[in-house]
Amino acid sequence: MSYNIAIDGPAGAGKSTIAKAVAKKEKLIYVDTGAMYRAMALFMLRQAVDLQNREEIIEKCREAHITIGYDGDIQVVYLNGENVNGLLRTEETGNAASVVSSIPEVREKLLELQRSLAAGNDCIMDGRDIGTCVLPGAQLKIYLTADSLVRARRRFDELAARGEVCDLEKIRADIEERDYRDMHREVSPLKRAEDAVTVDTSKMTADEVIAEVVRLCRERHPGSE
Ligand code: DC
Repeated sequence: MSYNIAIDGPAGAGKSTIAKAVAKKEKLIYVDTGAMYRAMALFMLRQAVDLQNREEIIEKCREAHITIGYDGDIQVVYLNGENVNGLLRTEETGNAASVVSSIPEVREKLLELQRSLAAGNDCIMDGRDIGTCVLPGAQLKIYLTADSLVRARRRFDELAARGEVCDLEKIRADIEERDYRDMHREVSPLKRAEDAVTVDTSKMTADEVIAEVVRLCRERHPGSE
């Protein structure tokens, strides 16, 4: 049986940074499920689908084939055969991903891909519903969170480092809107699994969080170090 770690939490809590680092240390593959929803959102944006129109999204999502490959330890997302990794991390795709991911037909399509990756590999998978829905039997579940202002500030610093002009209050408002949508949708809303360990990163450095998650992994899975 493969060894699976689930990391869930709100936007900007540091899930991907932490999961990537832990994957490297513990020799697991990293599965970024947000990137799959972002690829689906990119497809909808490219097709100029009206994001308020659920029927149109359901119809169009049948034409989007999303697959995953690995280039070394980097996850590569293919949208109808095209490597779209470089196009996924914009605010526009993130917000659109939050909208399309609320539709059950979209989730069903990606669920199978996520479960098959976890069944075939020791992995650390991050998202919103990994511990509650995708991998309810994961050996370790972490709910990673932080205060919304701290998350907005991290995002602001990341964008500023890339030379993008941004407004901290606008980023915070977007993050809070996204949290609300992700937590209140009908299917697979973001919530802490009952058996998840909560790690609040508001006052922690990335290295401290990585050390804590590695400690939890080794506690649950002795012999992995
Ligand atoms: O983690 P992220 O910012 O890349 O995710 C983008 C959006 O995708 C997020 O707002 C909600 C959605 N998502 C989801 O509904 N379920 C997941 N397992 C992962 C992401």
